[in-house]
Amino acid sequence: MKFFVDTADVPSIKELNDLGMVDGVTTNPSLILKSGRDILEVTKEICDMVSGPVSAEVVATEAKDMIAEGMKLAKIASNIAIKVPLTWDGLTACKAFASEGHMVNVTLCFSAAQAILAAKAGATFISPFIGRLDDINLDGVQLIEDIRTIYDNYNFETEILAASIRSVNHITDVARIGADVITAPPSVIKAMANHPLTDKGLDQFMKDWAKTGQKIV
Ligand code: E4P
Repeated sequence: MKFFVDTADVPSIKELNDLGMVDGVTTNPSLILKSGRDILEVTKEICDMVSGPVSAEVVATEAKDMIAEGMKLAKIASNIAIKVPLTWDGLTACKAFASEGHMVNVTLCFSAAQAILAAKAGATFISPFIGRLDDINLDGVQLIEDIRTIYDNYNFETEILAASIRSVNHITDVARIGADVITAPPSVIKAMANHPLTDKGLDQFMKDWAKTGQKIV
């Protein structure tokens, strides 16, 4: 399973990347706003740091304008994945980018039917948003399972990139199902290390070690 970090915050990406935890990065217009940085500048900085795919999202709504924006974003670095929304125009742009050999991440996917269209349009990644489905009392994890089944039925090569991840349970659930990639905020990735029994066990070991009066170094 590949780990993408869902942020445009360079120090957070660096911290996880230095630990070998980063296989790629996803950004979106909201994350660029949050970073307070210029999109071209911050995306270039991220691409220089991370060797895997870095998703940069178009903001136009018509295919021809999306294509112009995507071509500009693709010039930032060879590891750019152009991110387009799952609209008919987005799928048109996806097909154009894929035909030119660019990686494409089709985002804002909320149904298995949409995921089929993205695969047909040559998407490199499909991003189903599981947290936003859970927010409206639908089952985001079930959507990942449905897409996995459908893609496997037809040997679609598009990678399932589970997005809008809000919890550690989301990550383990989609890992069990076989999502190819997860993208999660740095805080959720770091929370994967937490367990109360680890803390309790460590505390006991420290107390017992102190009683031995020994030192290792
Ligand atoms: C994915 O590429 C998106 O950037 C992201 O996962 C959206 O997550 P959110 O629903 O927490 O905003």
